[in-house]
Amino acid sequence: MKVRQLTRQEPIPYDLLLVADETIEAIDKYIKDSEIFVIELKEKVIAVYVLQVMDTHMMEIKNIAVDPAHQGQGIGTFLLSDAAQKARERGFRAITIGTGDAARKQLDLYQKVGFKIFKVKKNFFPDNYPDPIYENGILLRDMILLKKDLK
Ligand code: ACO
Repeated sequence: MKVRQLTRQEPIPYDLLLVADETIEAIDKYIKDSEIFVIELKEKVIAVYVLQVMDTHMMEIKNIAVDPAHQGQGIGTFLLSDAAQKARERGFRAITIGTGDAARKQLDLYQKVGFKIFKVKKNFFPDNYPDPIYENGILLRDMILLKKDLK
């Protein structure tokens, strides 16, 4: 699988980013200060992740999404390790990712690849999104932040 960084001139793959985030407004809050990495199949973007520098020690994966037709084939796991590798190569000590408190599959996946829960942002979803968001039939409230130390 080949991961490619999008240039500033290329279109932002909002359709795919919206699989992981609720609104274009929410995406626009981080996308301009981030780098976008994609996997393509027959010139179509089928997977994406968005990486942002948080501080001198840490990068954050702001968005990760795989086209629903290609989920469950190991692409997300591959992207998470690619993101960690990129942050490590650049000398960052840790990489972080956040997800909703009811996002069980995502929480399992991130912990499986070495992320550990380190912070909970209380009421993050009601405070930041105009409409209620449900995952697995449960109203999202808190943002769970996970961190992976990079050696
Ligand atoms: N659908 C299916 N399986 C999932 C999902 C999901 N939404 N999320 C996690 N998994 C599990 C799989 O069961 C698998 O477990 P296993 O190893 O025991 O079989 C494990 O995650 C790894 O599966 P992969 O095939 O490597 O992951 P995939 O390519 O499906 O990518 C991702 C995972 C990115 C979460 C993808 O399913 C997706 O795009 N989901 C919708 C968008 C989303 O929720 N993004 C994350 C939001 S948080 C953020 O963006 C910072």
